[in-house]
Amino acid sequence: MASVAAAGAAPYPASGTSGPGLSLTMPDRSITVRVPATTANLGPGFDAVGLALTLYANITVSVAPEGRRKERPDPIRRMVLAAVRAAYAHISERAPRGLQVASTAEFPVGRGLGASAAARAAGLVAANSLLDQRLSEAELLSLGTELEGHADNIAPALFGGLQVVAVEGSHIARVAPALKSGLRCAGFIPELSMPTHESRDLLPKRLSRSDAVHNSSRAALLVAALTSGAWDQLRVATDDRLHQHARRKLFPRMFDLFEAATDAGAFAAYLSGGGSTVIALTDARRAARVQAALESAAEAYAIPGRSFVAEPNRRGAAVTNGS
Ligand code: HSE
Repeated sequence: MASVAAAGAAPYPASGTSGPGLSLTMPDRSITVRVPATTANLGPGFDAVGLALTLYANITVSVAPEGRRKERPDPIRRMVLAAVRAAYAHISERAPRGLQVASTAEFPVGRGLGASAAARAAGLVAANSLLDQRLSEAELLSLGTELEGHADNIAPALFGGLQVVAVEGSHIARVAPALKSGLRCAGFIPELSMPTHESRDLLPKRLSRSDAVHNSSRAALLVAALTSGAWDQLRVATDDRLHQHARRKLFPRMFDLFEAATDAGAFAAYLSGGGSTVIALTDARRAARVQAALESAAEAYAIPGRSFVAEPNRRGAAVTNGS
């Protein structure tokens, strides 16, 4: 199970925790989706590799046509609603009136843990439940990718596990290779927010051939190491020249946290998605030590935040109730 380390840590409120009393009337239908956090890139697999984690958001979509009119929802709840509507529009149906969203999450927005992908995946899965599963997995992925702009978070948010994706026009090629068991992710979530669009704006427009070869060889090695259990190759396999150095401008200490984690025995460490979360790949035996090292380094460099240890989630977004 995932553990969030900070003593008495409360769920993250910023991502759309709703207050009670959403509606004065009982909803006609209510679908709750449990959706995992996701970590993308894993170093060199930019926009191509993602992994679902055992940190969750619970997102409820309700249909209450006679409900009280609500204030404008926050950005995460707007993403859920947009995803529900996109699913209905895809099959040329009108979305139900009176849609409402409530959510709680164990992970925050803007830290590279796939909060927007989780919202969109939950909206799509909830809509598909309301639509009696009329959309295929490929359609859900395609709609989610269109909303997200890239597929490396939405694929594991929807389907769980390790996901490798490539966008080919309107088609998304996807393979979910079986991850070797035993991997743990020790993470540190700084309070620093790094919105993906800002973080992407920093990326180089061009790469030299040697940097392109560096990344493509390591992205291939990464998937091979994760699926074969060649953990000793992960240090080389997670080394990236496409985005992490450019993103250092927003988070200068990220490499110091990587070093603290690997010094404590982690196989490798990298910037999760667009940041600011740092994730160290490790195993069950070393996870607590690596987590403690991340916390000590963060304290030494005066980086406020929280740590966690998670396992890979294998299931992806799943309806936990349905009425
Ligand atoms: N591949 C995306 C990026 C993931 O790095 O911008 C964002 O979470």
